[in-house]
Amino acid sequence: MNIIAKVDKTGIPAEEIEALRPQAGQALDRLWSGNEPMTGWVTLPVTRNEKELQTIQEIAEIIKDEAELLVVIGIGGSYMGAKAAIEALPKAASGIEVRFMGNNLCTDYYFETLGAIKEKNTILCVISKSGNTMEVRTAFEVVKPIMVEKYGSVAEASKRILAITDEETGTLRSEATEFGYSTLPVPGNVGGRYSIATPVGLLPMAVSGIDIIEFLDGARDCANAAEWDHDLVDYAIARHLLEKQGKVVEVFALCHSRLAYLGEWMKQLFGESEGKEGKGLMPTSLMYSTDLHSMGQYMQEGRQIFMETLMIVDEPSVSIEIPGGPQKGKTVADINAAMIGGVTKAHLQAGIPIAEIHIPKLDTRNFGQLIYFLETTCAITAMLNGVNPFDQPGVEAYKREMHSLLD
Ligand code: PA5
Repeated sequence: MNIIAKVDKTGIPAEEIEALRPQAGQALDRLWSGNEPMTGWVTLPVTRNEKELQTIQEIAEIIKDEAELLVVIGIGGSYMGAKAAIEALPKAASGIEVRFMGNNLCTDYYFETLGAIKEKNTILCVISKSGNTMEVRTAFEVVKPIMVEKYGSVAEASKRILAITDEETGTLRSEATEFGYSTLPVPGNVGGRYSIATPVGLLPMAVSGIDIIEFLDGARDCANAAEWDHDLVDYAIARHLLEKQGKVVEVFALCHSRLAYLGEWMKQLFGESEGKEGKGLMPTSLMYSTDLHSMGQYMQEGRQIFMETLMIVDEPSVSIEIPGGPQKGKTVADINAAMIGGVTKAHLQAGIPIAEIHIPKLDTRNFGQLIYFLETTCAITAMLNGVNPFDQPGVEAYKREMHSLLD
């Protein structure tokens, strides 16, 4: 296991963390027991469905051969993991553009994406576990006639549509059957925000040139290491205790520009899993050092409602030396490391508890480890807080209101 979490700067005494380890261990046992609903993601990287993985890779190859553009229509857990991976990871040249749609209702964004669809040889990948999500259905309904017009008939357009959805239920599943779309399944016991290691995340990643087996190997490294005394457990406990001490917000401080979308994925994972029954740290993300010149002021001298988790990539993929000026001879990475050291000291002086997650190198295997690490951490903290990490009842409220306005 390469990902390391450190909690020694959170200010929580080691004995307090130790005292909660058995409880966290019980949470981990429950996750692995196979008896808890929606925990299918836990064993996915270990008990792999080799046949399905091969199918995903074959479909990805066909898409790469036949299209210039893959439009992934999905929202929430049905697109964020793939987007985070595609932004973070090195990719084999695939010659295909992957765009995301259906994750907002912005007309201008639609207009731009529709322009690309008209211009380029396109395949659609519609992802929705329920098959009924408004944002996804809206985008799909707008795009379908454009595909029909472009490719001459419903039958020809349907050949260019891949639906990733529940194996049996939902309108997307019945539509796929009716029109003969290619399909891949979302397992029933895996929720959206935990679905990156299913076709939901793997297909777009494979199309964009990411080695999905390497990614799963990384997730499996963490699954195999996830014993009750692993340091992810300590991080989960520290988060739980800091909330009990009165901290309200967790700032994920991303110290690498390619982690920006991972921050978005983390906000969804932690926010939707933990924010319920009046509990949960509110997750937010900042990019360092960029945001030290904006939100840095608030962090240092504003209301002290935070804990901070520094997400640090230890080794840059290239070395760039500074050729002149006062820091001549140092590398940009040296300055970045000094920034992280400086901000750590300054924030500790301001009373901000700091956890650290170290990613030795931003590669595919480590990314797989990191994703599984964060999913497990989140589930354990939620269980320590006494809430269900795998439901999202609060998301329904806006949907009900939106539907009644439309009706
Ligand atoms: O984590 C979740 O379950 C949600 O964020 C869903 O992924 C999101 O609401 C999209 O749902 P669906 O895949 O059913 O369209």
